[in-house]
Amino acid sequence: MTGLQWWQSAVFYQIYPRSFADGNGDGIGDLPGIIARLDYLADLGIDAIWLSPHYPSPQFDCGYDVADYSGVDPEYGTLDDFKQMLDEVHQRGMRLIIDLVLNHTSDQHSWFLESASSRENPKRDWYIWGDGPPNDWLSTFGDSAWEYDEGTGQYYYHYFFKEQPDLNWRNPEVKAAMFDAVRFWLDMGVDGYRLDAIGTVYEDPAMPAHNTGLTVAELRRRKEEAKTDADRRAARELWDQVFGCQVNQPEVHDLMKELRTLVDEYDDRVLVGETSLIGFYGDGTDELHTVFNFPLMRLERLTAAGIRDNQQERLSALNALARVGWPCNTLGNHDAPRTFSRFGDGENDDALARLSLGLVLTLRGTPFLYNGEEIGMIDLSLDDISQFRDELGIWLYNAARRDLGLPAEAALQLAIDGSRDRCRTPMQWSADANGGFCPSGVRPWLPVHPNHADGVNVADQLNHAGSLLSYYRALLKLRRESPALVGGDYTPLQSDDPDLLVFLRATPEQTCLVALNFSGSAAVLEPDAALPAAGRVLMGTPHRREGDELALAGLTIAPFELLICEM
Ligand code: GLC
Repeated sequence: MTGLQWWQSAVFYQIYPRSFADGNGDGIGDLPGIIARLDYLADLGIDAIWLSPHYPSPQFDCGYDVADYSGVDPEYGTLDDFKQMLDEVHQRGMRLIIDLVLNHTSDQHSWFLESASSRENPKRDWYIWGDGPPNDWLSTFGDSAWEYDEGTGQYYYHYFFKEQPDLNWRNPEVKAAMFDAVRFWLDMGVDGYRLDAIGTVYEDPAMPAHNTGLTVAELRRRKEEAKTDADRRAARELWDQVFGCQVNQPEVHDLMKELRTLVDEYDDRVLVGETSLIGFYGDGTDELHTVFNFPLMRLERLTAAGIRDNQQERLSALNALARVGWPCNTLGNHDAPRTFSRFGDGENDDALARLSLGLVLTLRGTPFLYNGEEIGMIDLSLDDISQFRDELGIWLYNAARRDLGLPAEAALQLAIDGSRDRCRTPMQWSADANGGFCPSGVRPWLPVHPNHADGVNVADQLNHAGSLLSYYRALLKLRRESPALVGGDYTPLQSDDPDLLVFLRATPEQTCLVALNFSGSAAVLEPDAALPAAGRVLMGTPHRREGDELALAGLTIAPFELLICEM
């Protein structure tokens, strides 16, 4: 595989530590649990892990409220456990990137406790304080973005929960302290960072009001209830109008350049941004290495036409950079619905799950998978607000009752749709009690989905050739062995077909044809000057035989088939 960096050819797998594997039997995932499952991940065929926050934290936002950037949450283990995990990841030829939350800390971080202790404290200006409240800005996770502090009689700014005060990145001491933490983990050997909510780091210093009079509950309701593309666009535009001055300020690019310079002092580390904006690539080499193609994940349905347009738009923007940017595709994470639920149609879910994996593993770019996807874990609908653990869901429920005046049932539905608990339930390792996540008799931090008893678990699928897990392993192996799928150019064919997505991936050494039929009807590969005459089957689900030579023009592609041929 020539000329690619490790992070370009890698398949990443996101571990949500609270829910992945419980090593000490307390109902909460931890680092020893992860270490015990590294062989599983190596066998699955992934190359790199993205670990969601492992830092000490009050866990108000499941670790995205960091109380110490150089430690490990005691619930998850010790620094020695972390070092052992990192070593063992590396011993297996894999890489590990961790989460970096720059925008805010926990309100329990010593920096904030000092900052809030008096107006004269040297760390006062590490956070954003004002009188008033200074304007009508909102928190994306709540009500006002300004929280009154009794002790000092001022308000502090928080884009997320009030338990997550925003750092003042215009203060050079903040940058120095955070960059020390960045070095701490890089010195230890961590392979890079996923940058949390990176667009939120700066706010417009003029702090103009949005003056819409809207609440976040209302904005979120409009997003959830949007039925048509036009509704969705309108809801998104309204959201941007309200939050526009709180995100994506120009200075963030200077910060990214400085961070990149720091990271480039090390051998080959990577920065992945939680943003979809191409601007975060800088000139292609001087800001982030890659950012997520979230517009793909946000397509209402996966259709050939929608994916083709998405690729056209993303790849041409990346190609237009001074140095061509590298794409990164994902369909699910700890903030989004489970892909199996999200892209299923209720009848062909398994086939659609196979297609969506086929898609992220064959498109040009680095794929990110989310733990549990490989066994077809689905969203869990909690049926009582007392079971919710995601404070966003709990807030939404209360706000729907209070601000929108919704009855309990409708408020619960809004909370279920907007809460992230549904995709964060414990990993289902077996059909045993608690899905094998934690011992029977122990209450896991979130309920385990009952379908662990019906085959949606690792143990049952591991040695079953037809299982989704076996399919993941086979496709990951195929990708790894196919230079064209890893690094090849992308050339779409049959560009008007609404159902069949067809493209070529080609390097000098190999050309592959990929056809994905997103419909329940058979489709046909149309003759085209660019379509190779024949191909050898590498994988064709559900019915092709590997190695068969196929004449391609006029070939019938079965409903929901994924066909990968080599020329
Ligand atoms: C990111 C994380 C999300 C978190 C938020 C605030 O979007 O993915 O889980 O709540 O940032 O840190």
